[in-house]
Amino acid sequence: MSSPTNTVEANQQQLWQLQQQATQHPQQYWGQHAELIDWVNVPSTILDDSNAPLYRWFSDGVLNTCYNAVDRHVEAGHGERIAIHYDSPVTGQQQSVSYAELQQQVAQLAGCLQQLGANKGDTVVIYMPMVVETVVAMLACARIGAVHSVVFGGFAAAELATRIDDAKPKLVLSASCGIEPSGTVAYKPLLDAALAQSQHQVEHCLILQRPQLSAELTPDRDLDWQQSVSAAPLADWIPVKATDPLYILYTSGTTGTPKGVVRDNGGHAVALAWSMQAVYDIKAGDTFWAASDVGWVVGHSYIVYGPLLVGASTVLYEGKPVGTPDSGAFARVIEQYQVRSFFTAPTAMRAIKRDDPAGAQCRRYNTDCLQAIYLAGERCDPDTLEWTSQVFGKPVIDHWWQTETGWAICANLQGLTPLPIKAGSPATAIPGYQVEVLDEVGEQVAANQSGAIAIKLPLPPGTLPTLWGNDQRYIDSYLSRYPGYYLTGDAGYLDDDGYLYVMSRLDDIINVAGHRLSTGRFEEVLAQHPSVAEVAVIGVADKLKGQLPLGLVVLKAGAIADQQLDADLIGLVREQVGPVAAFKLVTVVEKLPKTRSGKILRGTMRQMADNKPVKVPATIEDPAALELIQQALARLGYGTQSVA
Ligand code: COA
Ligand code: AMP
Repeated sequence: MSSPTNTVEANQQQLWQLQQQATQHPQQYWGQHAELIDWVNVPSTILDDSNAPLYRWFSDGVLNTCYNAVDRHVEAGHGERIAIHYDSPVTGQQQSVSYAELQQQVAQLAGCLQQLGANKGDTVVIYMPMVVETVVAMLACARIGAVHSVVFGGFAAAELATRIDDAKPKLVLSASCGIEPSGTVAYKPLLDAALAQSQHQVEHCLILQRPQLSAELTPDRDLDWQQSVSAAPLADWIPVKATDPLYILYTSGTTGTPKGVVRDNGGHAVALAWSMQAVYDIKAGDTFWAASDVGWVVGHSYIVYGPLLVGASTVLYEGKPVGTPDSGAFARVIEQYQVRSFFTAPTAMRAIKRDDPAGAQCRRYNTDCLQAIYLAGERCDPDTLEWTSQVFGKPVIDHWWQTETGWAICANLQGLTPLPIKAGSPATAIPGYQVEVLDEVGEQVAANQSGAIAIKLPLPPGTLPTLWGNDQRYIDSYLSRYPGYYLTGDAGYLDDDGYLYVMSRLDDIINVAGHRLSTGRFEEVLAQHPSVAEVAVIGVADKLKGQLPLGLVVLKAGAIADQQLDADLIGLVREQVGPVAAFKLVTVVEKLPKTRSGKILRGTMRQMADNKPVKVPATIEDPAALELIQQALARLGYGTQSVA
């Protein structure tokens, strides 16, 4: 028997070999993993680089993602196995859906979508809460080759309208309400407002009436979900090309206009199926739980597609880590469904820790079924990692990824080559990703030196092939800064063992409770206020949510700074971006610090707010402006240390 040290060495060696294989022989490496999927036409071209830097995977493959996620398990005799455990503490409902039941529901909704005119290649926007019907809706689109675009429920009407205008859906699927601990959130008025604002119009909206709140339907346009679906025929799945889009998911960019990340069918299915086993150590029949929302990429990949592709059971949880009803909720769900691998955001663990520092509520439940806990979505501070590991007594695996990649870039591969955990690092690059840290001119920096984190092209299967309808924006945003590389937008360093440390963003994106938001979008909204002359929004450190947006506004001459103005500005962001923005910090300043060329010194203000060493740029136009910022930040309780 090998000693633990030997196992570590053997795993390191094996990981290194896999990384080499995936880099040097990507065709062979990913070709062998394509066997995890049932194909109509097995691909013979694994990597198509004929249009580089836009790469395509499995380009002559034909498959159906819904068939792979649902039907094939039923055909293999596992129809009775639970596909979805729906657990909703906010409504008091629990429901288990078998693979056979899921197949029936998906086929019937797919038939309904076809009756309403949605066909292969058409887009369908899904604006829904965490209910079984949302998963069914995604799979029904996949079944008929329609491209879904799920919009997170916490976004406001204006954000939904932007996405409707970009995706140009044939149909919108929505529900009467979502349920938050604070009460029901009526979705239908938000949808109506979005459709009133958007230029693109849809023929029909299919509305799920929830018993908690009924929505008024617009005659002719809106249709009742239950009535329409119950009258629809069952639709069979249809073959699509591996390179056909499965979904579009909008994510924040540096400008206010979100980017429509495209996911293909073939690469996505292969990558997710492989990751379930290698990253999360999950196989058919196991229970996997990602406590996220289907509106985010984590929800797409690991509430819906990943677990179902491998025939596991997934947990769909409509609740919060705390307050529904208490901070033992996660542990209760883990015990109840015998979850083997559990995935959440560090902020959720911080919320539990804040309510119950000793973890007593979690310890009331037996969570021995857990193999490991996985955290992602934001940087995981070592304290949170250690606290989680102590309370649950299991390995806590930080892993790093983005909406764009759709699955992890760096992770400690629990199902393949587990390595020692280093708190603060999401471990090493997953085979298929060549992660490098680059300096200003694109040279690799030495170990332990910080720089821009970039990934050498081609990216592996499952990652974005482009942005929806906009190859040029994809190239400009990600591929131009360092030719031959994908720019992640994150900054950090690699240590001597090849462990990555992701420390910050290089752009104006902030991360609020694991939600990615653009400060540019906040600024756009605040600038609309008639009293505002100029505005800067920065992300400031927050113990619970990781970061919070903080707005510094300069008023037009004659405008009055008072509490009403603050409330109006806060209300404006809530109304136009949504409650998820958590925008509550705003103050008026006389002027914003700028360079002599007029660039606002957001980075400097962020350092001041977070009490970090402040480097005042030599090009600053008026150093006195920093003092005014210091006073303004202090009014909000930030940046209390003086600037040297
Ligand atoms: N529909 C409508 N409104 C929503 C919503 C949804 N799907 N999700 C959130 N909101 C609203 C909330 O009701 C809240 O509104 P309020 O200002 O009226 O209270 C606001 O958006 C902010 O919500 P949230 O981000 O949940 O903050 P919180 O302070 O209520 O809770 C946490 C804090 C840490 C418990 C919570 O953010 C959390 O669970 N985070 C985990 C995040 C996560 O899973 N991220 C996915 C990446 S892996
Ligand atoms: P999103 O596209 O919403 O998933 O956000 C992706 C961004 O979240 C990344 O680019 C990082 O900035 C941050 N992020 C996600 N996971 C991690 C992690 N494990 N460590 C550090 N940052 C992370």
